[in-house]
Amino acid sequence: MASPLFDELDLGPHTLPHRAAMAPLTRNRAAEGNVPTELNAAYYRQRASAALIVSEATQVAPKGQGYPRTPGIHSDEQVEGWKKVTDAVHEAGGRIFLQLWHVGRISHPLYHDGETPVAPSPIAPDGQVLTPDLEMVPFETPRALGTEEVPEVVEQYRTGAKNARRAGFDGVEIHAANGYLIDQFLRSRTNERTDRYGGSLNNRLRFLREVMAAVTDEWESGRVGVRLSPLSPFNDMEDATPAETFRAAASTADDFELSYVHLVEPAEPKPPVAGDGETAAVFSGIREAFDGALVANGNYDTETATDAIERGYAQLVAFGRAFLANPDLPRRLKEGLPINVPDEDTFYNGDEHGYTDYPTWEELQNGTAFDTLDSLAELEARG
Ligand code: PHB
Repeated sequence: MASPLFDELDLGPHTLPHRAAMAPLTRNRAAEGNVPTELNAAYYRQRASAALIVSEATQVAPKGQGYPRTPGIHSDEQVEGWKKVTDAVHEAGGRIFLQLWHVGRISHPLYHDGETPVAPSPIAPDGQVLTPDLEMVPFETPRALGTEEVPEVVEQYRTGAKNARRAGFDGVEIHAANGYLIDQFLRSRTNERTDRYGGSLNNRLRFLREVMAAVTDEWESGRVGVRLSPLSPFNDMEDATPAETFRAAASTADDFELSYVHLVEPAEPKPPVAGDGETAAVFSGIREAFDGALVANGNYDTETATDAIERGYAQLVAFGRAFLANPDLPRRLKEGLPINVPDEDTFYNGDEHGYTDYPTWEELQNGTAFDTLDSLAELEARG
């Protein structure tokens, strides 16, 4: 019984060799100036057997940064750095999209020469932010973008998209998830605007729509995806009517004929298997509203990924932590091989340790010692 997880997929102009993609993973290992390095290139090269790599979130402008050492796509040095990455992935036979990011209120003045972070509305997130010096401090209240400033931020996404082409990417993913700037416009808790960017659902969608318009000016739509996280509370987020909001967001992606919608899903129960009424309503509404590919993401294993594809819910499944720790993850899944256990202490910041030194299955056979579990299901069950 071959799983459709290992079937090809046509995605825009690309034919992907299978359905196991690499999810975007923040690793905080860019160099001075938030420039990607040879080390970053080595890390992505090792993972080139992914159906598709989505890069770590990458700020489109200096104001879009809110974590230490995240890469940017707004300077020439960054474009040159990313070329090393895309060349490495292409040499190894892979495909890589850049994830276009602006953090909005999830930041601190210490990242911006003392200037206050920007957001749709002056509402501080509950919680703490990591400073450039790796200290945790409370969030401050962001400054609301003026109506006339919003199109300037849209242009920053356009520049990021253009620069991603110059850097040799195969496409781009618009990051509209996880409580960052676009999501702050979308979801009701963080948008109390009374201008054309807030109030009605149509107005809350306007920023996303303008970003999609700018990005699809620069790239054919088959090379553009968008990531959404309808029910995730991460970064102090909530929406009053998520089924309605995210059906409309998916429908907007459909209007632009985007290649895929990438979903950050609840870990359990998995869509399309219904959870409570709301989980089912949100994810089935997105599936109905969008004709392109859905990328499922959230603690999948081979069995649950197979189920999602067989039911016609998702066409691709993205793996995060598992790909981080298993550079040859597709092979391990296909052959039912043991899975390296990720080391959480080295997820963020640091160096090559816990980054480029996870062994392949081949290396394990040649005597490299590493902590493994029998299957991805076992790893995901651990949480
Ligand atoms: C993070 O750096 O913690 C982070 C970045 C982007 C995301 C989620 C988390 O989408």
